[in-house]
Amino acid sequence: MIKIAPSILSADFSCLKEQIQQIEKGGAKYVHIDVMDGMFVPNITMGPVVIESIRKHTDLVFDVHLMIEEPERYIKEFAEAGADIITVHVEATKDIRGCIEKIKSFKKRAGVSIKPATPVSAIKDILGELDMVLVMSVEPGFGGQKYIDSADEKLRELKELMPAGTDISVDGGIKLDNIDRVIKNGANTVVAGSAVFGAENIEEQTRLFVDLANKIEAQCV
Ligand code: DX5
Ligand code: ZN
Repeated sequence: MIKIAPSILSADFSCLKEQIQQIEKGGAKYVHIDVMDGMFVPNITMGPVVIESIRKHTDLVFDVHLMIEEPERYIKEFAEAGADIITVHVEATKDIRGCIEKIKSFKKRAGVSIKPATPVSAIKDILGELDMVLVMSVEPGFGGQKYIDSADEKLRELKELMPAGTDISVDGGIKLDNIDRVIKNGANTVVAGSAVFGAENIEEQTRLFVDLANKIEAQCV
């Protein structure tokens, strides 16, 4: 089953709890949480305190995407705040293996993300240790950007390389009218921010994503 992971980066933070409950009702399995530090990316978002406070209100899988320099400094805090999956950027650390080990030491699922300019070969040696690979299909930092075509090829490569059961996730510029290409190319987890939270009816829009993803997946078999 394809997992839809709405990104709260585009949510209305004045009513975050209600908005997360709407995606849950709409059938999302993951909620994607973008953490930015103003260093690795030119934007600042939220930290462990926000994650801890929303943790009490939903059973969704917390898919935490760390866009921060030297993420090893904060893995413990995000694990303790309630993350289920912690994804770090290979470009942000000198010790990617240490990050993966640390995430796993807290019994969390470990993910690694690659920016648009980073090839799959940069993480080839660690793929066997991962629970998730996150392909960025926009430059990390902001929601609402256009999908970068070169992500298609990376998804195809990962589909060949990754053991079954691993999450192959794609993040950035995904809408109802291009979700078919990412699924057909190999993604089994799809992040969508503005396309979900920018809709008038968030629950209904989530359901449209979930139903369409399942339909496309059924066609792929
Ligand atoms: C961008 C973030 C994305 C973002 C996607 O750096 O990692 O998760 O929220 O937003 P959309 O779906 O609007 O491109
Ligand atoms: Zn993200």
